[in-house]
Amino acid sequence: MDDNIGGTYFLNKLTTTERNDELVRLRSQALRFQEREIQLLSSFNLPSAGRLLDMGCGLAHIAEMIARRFPDLEVTGIDESEDLLSRAKARIEDWPKNLKLNACDARNTNLSQASFDFVYCRFLLQHLSDPLIVLGEAMRLLKPGGQILLADIDDSFLSLYPEPDSFTQLKSSSAQKQAEFGGDRYIGRKLPSLLMSAGFSKVRTHLEGISSTQIGLDSFCNLAFSFRTWSTSGAETSAIYERFIAELKVVSETPVGIVGIIFAGGKK
Ligand SMILES: C[S@@+](CC[C@H](N)C(=O)[O-])C[C@H]1O[C@@H](n2cnc3c(N)ncnc32)[C@H](O)[C@@H]1O
Repeated sequence: MDDNIGGTYFLNKLTTTERNDELVRLRSQALRFQEREIQLLSSFNLPSAGRLLDMGCGLAHIAEMIARRFPDLEVTGIDESEDLLSRAKARIEDWPKNLKLNACDARNTNLSQASFDFVYCRFLLQHLSDPLIVLGEAMRLLKPGGQILLADIDDSFLSLYPEPDSFTQLKSSSAQKQAEFGGDRYIGRKLPSLLMSAGFSKVRTHLEGISSTQIGLDSFCNLAFSFRTWSTSGAETSAIYERFIAELKVVSETPVGIVGIIFAGGKK
């Protein structure tokens, strides 16, 4: 299977160094806030038993973490990238009995209908031109009364103060490039209405803020900005990013960054 069938997650176009950096970034993005993520999942009715599907699981850090925390929950992670899934398989030691990984397209999984109690979809929809198709597939896969939780970004909840001159340009260039390839860096605000359009009820949202005061400015930049420099953009956005990083070092006081991740859940 290709590493990116449609969508804007172009892992297979990276150099080896970029790819390794991106894998480290995904790992840190997945594991740094795991206690908080479990709290959020629980607040959106994560069951402690039954079947959970992680759509676009990537390296499966979150699927693995959930499987270890909840041994009575059978966790299935799916991703279209066979490369990422084989890296996940090579990475995971002492494989949890309740974890499975499958290579398939989240838009058309071939999994049995009405077979899951909970679907989690984390940082996938921003890469797709047709997010409603994934939500339709999630609806098909959930049992009646099953829960879905989406987590994604919206660049209007990304700020730095003081702000380097190139910050606005970096945001607009990367958003424009991601949009050209069918992705959407402003998908966060749309998650509740996408859930309602897909037929989910009891839609709820939560805005989770992460600040550079918690994790340090370097980690914040790595978490919030690095991916965009190569995901869709090539030289132009990378050059703006280099300028942005250089400018960060010369602003008069240390900037504070804040990013908001939008969680939206609903019920079948
Ligand atoms: C930014 S990564 C997020 C990975 C993981 N959910 C996390 O939060 O760390 C996006 C993932 O979506 C996967 N992906 C993109 N389009 C997909 C599709 N149509 N079906 C399944 N997975 C897809 C990519 O291969 C990649 O692993």
